[in-house]
Amino acid sequence: MKYLILGANGLIGQQFVQLCKEKSIDYVGTRYSRKAEGLIPFNQLELDKIPKVFDEVSPAVIINSIGLSGGVNFCENNPEIGRKYHVEATKVMVDWCRQNRAAFVYISSDYVFDGENPPYKEEDKTNPLNLYGELKLEGEQYIRANLEHYVIARTTNVFAWDLETQTPNFLMHLVNTLKEKDRIKVPGFLYGNPTYAGDLAAGIMDLIEHKHYGLYHIVGSEYINRYDWAVKCIEMAGLKGKTIEKIETPPTDMVPRPLKSHLDTGKFRQVSSIKLHNVEEGLRIFVNAMKG
Ligand SMILES: NC(=O)c1ccc[n+]([C@@H]2O[C@H](COP(=O)([O-])OP(=O)(O)OC[C@H]3O[C@@H](n4cnc5c(N)ncnc54)[C@H](OP(=O)(O)O)[C@@H]3O)[C@@H](O)[C@H]2O)c1
Repeated sequence: MKYLILGANGLIGQQFVQLCKEKSIDYVGTRYSRKAEGLIPFNQLELDKIPKVFDEVSPAVIINSIGLSGGVNFCENNPEIGRKYHVEATKVMVDWCRQNRAAFVYISSDYVFDGENPPYKEEDKTNPLNLYGELKLEGEQYIRANLEHYVIARTTNVFAWDLETQTPNFLMHLVNTLKEKDRIKVPGFLYGNPTYAGDLAAGIMDLIEHKHYGLYHIVGSEYINRYDWAVKCIEMAGLKGKTIEKIETPPTDMVPRPLKSHLDTGKFRQVSSIKLHNVEEGLRIFVNAMKG
């Protein structure tokens, strides 16, 4: 059974590659702007070329772990590209999967919710506050209406150590900034479940392998704000003499987003025994990787 991992050199994609290697699963991975040994070039925005690449690889499972650089702000400022990337490309992929009986993995977000009534279960009312959230939700809806064999994983605050990254996750940004400077400002008003990228990938693979298709929340087991998370990180990393300043209220020019997006993982935990690490355990994995 062959897997196609789109975005195989990204934060989450790398973890799928690692798992395929560990499990001796046959896979093909794609890259975009960065050269990477063994990965094939692929551009999600060239919609007409997507089916040809899929035909050539002929996978039984397609995992889309491509991330559009710039994320939420980029989408807001470039709505047409955002739509093409999140919705139109997803439609092309889903249609190919339906015609070719392949399973599809889509990584969605807590941004489908407004953050007013956490914790959220999978079927709770959605109400995205920004375009990224709207488009992610539209992608989800197309998949659910048109495919049987899919895993949609809503996640948030994904982290792992990755020195090569072009799109640093929160902890990488924190550590990289504090290498250069003695202070950093961090929001105390943003709450979520830090999610170790390896847990997310392992959880998704487990669902696919056991054919537990559907929509799942897959996030770390603890809920915390960014400031407290950052303080714990620098303590564990032994970064002495550094100051983390707490930002108490959202800046007026911030793109609206859910401030309290606690996702309930009960549905996932009923069918999978993959461990979702808590804050301290996740930070220990991160810091150990950082120290080599
Ligand atoms: N990270 C989070 O906290 C989080 C939370 C919720 C949902 N998600 C979702 O998870 C998915 C993956 O996120 P991530 O953080 O792992 O992303 P990431 O680390 O930024 O990964 C980016 C990957 O996408 C590739 N890529 C970028 N533009 C592309 C394009 N136009 N065509 C083809 N490939 C392209 C990159 O290739 P090159 O490096 O070669 O350019 C790289 O492999 C995204 O859909 C994101 O919305 C992430």
